[in-house]
Amino acid sequence: MAKAKKSYHCNACGAVSPRWSGQCDSCHEWNCITEEVIEAAVPKGMNGTKKGRKLSFAALGDKSQTEYKRYKSGIEEFDRVLGGGLVPGSATLIGGDPGIGKSTILLQSVCALAQSGVRCLYVSGEEAVDQVRMRARRLELLDAPLELVSATNVRDILSSVEGGGEKPVEVMVIDSIQTMFIDNIDSAPGTVTQVRTCAQEITRHAKARNMAVIFVGHVTKDGQIAGPRVLEHLVDSVLHFEGDRSHHFRILRGVKNRFGPTDEIGVFEMAGHGLVQVENPSALFLSQRAENVAGSAVLAALEGTRPMLVEVQALVAPSAMASPRRSVIGWDPNRLAMIVAVLETRCGVQLSGCDIFLNIAGGIKINEPAADLAVAAALMSALSGTPLPMESIFFGEIGLSGEIRQVAQADLRIKEASKLGFKEAVIPKAKKPIGRAAEKSVAKGFVLHPLEHVQNLSDLYMTKQVNSSYHDAGQVRAV
Ligand code: TYD
Ligand code: MG
Repeated sequence: MAKAKKSYHCNACGAVSPRWSGQCDSCHEWNCITEEVIEAAVPKGMNGTKKGRKLSFAALGDKSQTEYKRYKSGIEEFDRVLGGGLVPGSATLIGGDPGIGKSTILLQSVCALAQSGVRCLYVSGEEAVDQVRMRARRLELLDAPLELVSATNVRDILSSVEGGGEKPVEVMVIDSIQTMFIDNIDSAPGTVTQVRTCAQEITRHAKARNMAVIFVGHVTKDGQIAGPRVLEHLVDSVLHFEGDRSHHFRILRGVKNRFGPTDEIGVFEMAGHGLVQVENPSALFLSQRAENVAGSAVLAALEGTRPMLVEVQALVAPSAMASPRRSVIGWDPNRLAMIVAVLETRCGVQLSGCDIFLNIAGGIKINEPAADLAVAAALMSALSGTPLPMESIFFGEIGLSGEIRQVAQADLRIKEASKLGFKEAVIPKAKKPIGRAAEKSVAKGFVLHPLEHVQNLSDLYMTKQVNSSYHDAGQVRAV
């Protein structure tokens, strides 16, 4: 009999080591290593000698299969992130901080699906049926034909969805995958082996029966979905539900999708009766903008296929410290360091003795380099004390030599700005800044300011001197 092969996995970071220890060598977490059997004991001579079954190959261009059928919940923000609805037989993982609203959004979505005639099951491993019911009452969803069960044993759950003659379960929610367990594995729920095997078992079952499953996954301190990374490889789509606790809006972000585009976002607002869709996020993010304040610039950002206007706020103050503070909320601190360096070396703006605080208002996170120009404008405005015009928007990437580079989807960004009543856009220079179709839909009198170099920015707006050396060089011109 060949011996069973074992390895030791860290529950926190997923690192594998050949022997057990009290502390993980890679993430230094204590008591997180569990044993895993990777190859069961097999009688000698059996391993590898068994012949496989013959598979039949299929042609790529099968005409009979058209588009994926999709279950649409009718909650547009949710459907869009999934690429137009849930695909039957797909597995989706939704991760997020505790209390951010994962259970709420899933309950709302599957209730909406159930109301449209899809048979849905909500499996809660964390809450009792009554607790889920209480939430449904609060959300005014008690009349939805949703089926509930409070269970954690995967074998029980899978046997129960088997169903004889009745309509099969079409959509199942597992809240959460970390509470599930399979009884023939000798480790506690939530460990790497359990989480992975449960997810594998449920996904396999779901695919065979064309049932869509949605797993809820917990998130560790540093924002990773807890348990092994393999969980993300195992499923078809991964969504992150994020938001700042101190703000009431939440963002559902698609980070992986085998059936549609990634980077799509859905914006929701947490209200007293559940999550409400935000159809016009730009208006929400700009709603509290103060008038005529120096250091504020509006950025036309792009999230997936969706343009969104957000306010970039900068504060520049003389520093009393040897190494001035650079504090950034909602953007990449390294990018800020780069913009500061470009402004200093290419435009002669002096920021080295100043504390800089940069904030993307509303608690949203921006990852695009297209924000560079808005950040540079906000910094220059903050330093000179000159407010930027209220009705301007900015976007463009700044290169290391100070050149302003083009970014994707300029048309969409400009159209959104025009729709919200903005009058001018400061954009990268291009042969044709916007397409003919976009030109038509932009309001009359909308002005474009294509810029080639970041220096042109101060020529355009800064009436006061940005700094003496720059001014002396004769590069600042009043508008
Ligand atoms: P929940 O969905 O339980 O979060 P998760 O499953 O991600 O842990 O959401 C809980 C939070 O949402 C809780 O702090 C209360 C808040 N909430 C509302 O503000 N309004 C509501 O209608 C509901 C149901 C929850
Ligand atoms: Mg929950």
